[in-house]
Amino acid sequence: MIRRPDKAAMDEAVRLILAGELVGMPTETVYGLAADAFNAKACAMIFEVKARPSFDPLIVHLAQPDWLERVIAPGLSVETRRVAELLARRFWPGPLTLVLPKADAVPGIVTSGMDTVAVRIPDHPVALALMQALNRPLAAPSANRFGALSPTRAEHVLQGLGPVVPLILDGGPCSIGVESSILDLSRSEPRLLRPGGLSRELLQDALNITLPVEADSTENPLAPGQLKSHYAPATRLTLLGHSVNENEGDENAGLLAFTPLKVRHRYAHVEILSSDGNLAEAAARLFECLHRLDAMKLARIDAEAVPETGLGLAINDRLLKASRAFNSQQHPA
Ligand code: TXA
Ligand code: MG
Repeated sequence: MIRRPDKAAMDEAVRLILAGELVGMPTETVYGLAADAFNAKACAMIFEVKARPSFDPLIVHLAQPDWLERVIAPGLSVETRRVAELLARRFWPGPLTLVLPKADAVPGIVTSGMDTVAVRIPDHPVALALMQALNRPLAAPSANRFGALSPTRAEHVLQGLGPVVPLILDGGPCSIGVESSILDLSRSEPRLLRPGGLSRELLQDALNITLPVEADSTENPLAPGQLKSHYAPATRLTLLGHSVNENEGDENAGLLAFTPLKVRHRYAHVEILSSDGNLAEAAARLFECLHRLDAMKLARIDAEAVPETGLGLAINDRLLKASRAFNSQQHPA
């Protein structure tokens, strides 16, 4: 059930989480499917509801920086601690997830048996209030079926997962609209595992280094979430390597365009990510536009690639992975 996050709904959310149930929760990036991060059984249910493979670990959400000590291993190296604290001060709450050595208290199911844990403080008043009321971190992956389009509105969660989720808190549309950037600090050099809502440029400036994006992998279980295909609509999606040409498209196809089209075209329907080429606006609208196109049951969705700067890196990553779901004939959902 979708509810406005008033006092009664927040109380109910607390009761459900403490009872080991799941709650749909808004964050600034995408909606999460939340469980008590210290309750292994509740976290196992997340995998079941999402039909998520157990090798794909969850992100643990915190309400405040000093909770970090509850979920990461004591005795971080001085350098790792310095970098983690610098990034936390600069970017939390916000769309940055850090991978660090895990504390014993975090159940293995959350981290897929690895000795690292992914953590972030989300920038959303409802998520923060829920965790403060619980005084507990929440494990929460995106609230969609594994491999499917991510949810940026409460209705997307209900459409995607159905009534098995007892409560979905409606915090309105997500302001960032793509998942957090994931930075691995558990190795000798920081590694960007997933481009996301915090631009690579801002991270590089803060760290004063160049960050290559890790190569995608279908096999390497040490780099989960880097699956080649993901984020896919039910409709076949083709990533156009160019912007749309005169007379392109046909009456069975839809188009996801970066900016308004200046040429005549034949598409049945066009969704525009940004009226003036703003990549932050495009990211915020990405999944919403894809959900809309998908609902039209067209034969095909074409998508224009966007410039590869700022949040464009994350947008192109999501579009490429959505297109691969069909090229590889393994629709992950
Ligand atoms: O913005 C977000 O990050 C959203 C909101 C809800 O916070 N969450 C999200 O979760 O995108 P999810 O489950 O869709 O993606 C989590 C990814 C996993 O696919 C995995 O690649 C990575 O986080 N991850 C989690 N724990 C990890 C670890 N210990 N080492 C490396 N990667 C990890
Ligand atoms: Mg996800």
